Amino acid sequence: MTKTLNVAVLGATGAVGQEIIRVLEQREVPVERLVPLASPRSAGRTIRFRGREVKVEAVTEEAFEGIDVALFSAGGGTSKEWAPRAAARGAVVIDNSSAWRMDPEVPLCVPEVNLDAARTRPKGIVANPNCSTIQMVVALKPLHDEARIKRIVVSTYQAISGAGAKAVESFQGQLAALVRGEAVDTSVLGGQLAGNLLMSWTRDPASGYQEEELKMVHETRKIFGDETIRVSPTAVRVPVINVHAESIAVELERPVSAERARELLARAPGIELVDDFAEGVYPQPLQASGRDAVLVGRVREDVGNPGGLLMWVVADNLRKGAALNAVQIAEGLFGTRG
Ligand code: A2P
Repeated sequence: MTKTLNVAVLGATGAVGQEIIRVLEQREVPVERLVPLASPRSAGRTIRFRGREVKVEAVTEEAFEGIDVALFSAGGGTSKEWAPRAAARGAVVIDNSSAWRMDPEVPLCVPEVNLDAARTRPKGIVANPNCSTIQMVVALKPLHDEARIKRIVVSTYQAISGAGAKAVESFQGQLAALVRGEAVDTSVLGGQLAGNLLMSWTRDPASGYQEEELKMVHETRKIFGDETIRVSPTAVRVPVINVHAESIAVELERPVSAERARELLARAPGIELVDDFAEGVYPQPLQASGRDAVLVGRVREDVGNPGGLLMWVVADNLRKGAALNAVQIAEGLFGTRG
């Protein structure tokens, strides 16, 4: 008989928290008891789960009593404060924030790549990587297994949903203002995104990078367990509501043909190969929205770097990039999926 799970979701009223609850329902995770948690502001609100209204509670230590798995998506500060407390009550914490990702005692997990890492968790916490890292490592895993990655050059085309519901609303306001020829409110998005591109993540003045870019460098190495992998990232916010895209150039220890790469990608878990460019078929954000798969296309030999490969990788940042990956970690650890 499948084990049933008591599941807490901290941040249940947020964009990712709501997606987690949808994913739990859609994947028919055997949830015995769902405990939606948020700040005291949301206490008493309800969320729908399997056709029933469930009351949102303000987070407390007692709320984690008897919980098997606590899925956190309430920001780094909240996670720092509550993850150890939830773990002390015996819950396995799966955290979506960046608070614990680089802690050597916290595994950083993408189930298609390194589920086993999540089985050793001295702090009772497993970290979910950054959305851009997740879709990149899923797409690169079969190539890494074949010929070991030496170097990655990646440019991201990141959707607004990754910045939260308020950012999406603000973008819609910007578009309307632009059409009416009015002044655009730039306060939420850190600039005008309507008709434009932005690089408005937190800057790391010492290196000249955005923190979002450095996450891709360090998280990729940690997930593959290989500190020699070189990653050259550029992160760009694009005027797309949902789904991140990435242009990836990868250099392997020995050349792999585009044909062989396609073969490997087509049978790798979590990937759907969408690659018939002669016929105009390639992954597009609108096709990936609401879907679980990482779509990979435009697989080709790198004309500027013989032996290297180029590809285009598209995935729903709220699902595989956050909620789905967290739920898959729980499924993998508790063996609740066949
Ligand atoms: P609340 O709605 O009560 O503020 P988003 O990333 O979409 O902004 O969502 C953040 C989520 O994290 C929300 O569910 C929010 O709850 C929750 N949250 C934020 N701060 C805290 C806190 N200090 N304690 C508990 N939950 C929090």
